[in-house]
Amino acid sequence: MAEEFSKAGAYEGYLGSWSSSLAPLFIDFAGVQDGDRVLDVGTGTGSLALALAASMPRSQIVGSDPSAPYIEFARTRTGDPRVRFDIGDAMNLPYADKYFDKSVAQLVLNSVPKPRRAAMEMHRVTKTGGTVAACVWASDGSNERERIFWGAATAVDPAAAQRRETERGYGHEGRLSALWTECGLREVADAYLVVSVDFASFEAFWSPYLEGQGHGGSYVRSLPPDRRDILRERLRREILGMKGDGPFSLRAQAVAVRGIC
Ligand SMILES: C[S@@+](CC[C@H](N)C(=O)[O-])C[C@H]1O[C@@H](n2cnc3c(N)ncnc32)[C@H](O)[C@@H]1O
Repeated sequence: MAEEFSKAGAYEGYLGSWSSSLAPLFIDFAGVQDGDRVLDVGTGTGSLALALAASMPRSQIVGSDPSAPYIEFARTRTGDPRVRFDIGDAMNLPYADKYFDKSVAQLVLNSVPKPRRAAMEMHRVTKTGGTVAACVWASDGSNERERIFWGAATAVDPAAAQRRETERGYGHEGRLSALWTECGLREVADAYLVVSVDFASFEAFWSPYLEGQGHGGSYVRSLPPDRRDILRERLRREILGMKGDGPFSLRAQAVAVRGIC
């Protein structure tokens, strides 16, 4: 499993609060109903699966992810017998055809080597009439954290442009819905989901990057210490300007898609 998805505690610090803020909006968009049997593909540390369990008291939820450390961590987060976490690859899901009412993947498809294969697998394991839904961070500049981070990274290191997830992924308008249509899903609909995340200080924003999780973290870890310091100071200036350190919020926007099997 990729190094960038190997440290669960660090991932929680880096992206956990974003995932938890996004989860209720995504659940609503996906139209999950209480009592549904739901598959959370690429569950990571389990934020979406746990949000599903909290809001759907009669549902059965399976979270699946190829990262063993993430799955182990997710398992420690709940003792709810309705929630199960399995190690598994989105491109080869270990479930019977039409087993789930809903299959959802939050912030996953840009990390999967063959996203089309993953979408087809989600379709396969979902009942006829059930819903398959996914979301990824938008790549149009409306995701403030990504825009600020990669803008600063590219300013101090032009090669960073090639590391930027947003250049190649599904965060551009229309790409996810085109994929869903290609995979044979019906009544395909897309939407933007917007969240705001609060940071207590610049350090609360910066320090999780040093753990190497996710694209931004793995990029920061690849830099020699002097380049890291330059990036850190550039980000501090971008975010705080002339103000002293203190709390701030950043806005992030995800593109979401859903379709019927
Ligand atoms: C940005 S994280 C999102 C995790 C979680 N869905 C959330 O909202 O916090 C991306 C996740 O995709 C998972 N992933 C990477 N390759 C995958 C694959 N082939 N199949 C399923 N999940 C994969 C990673 O292990 C990681 O947990």
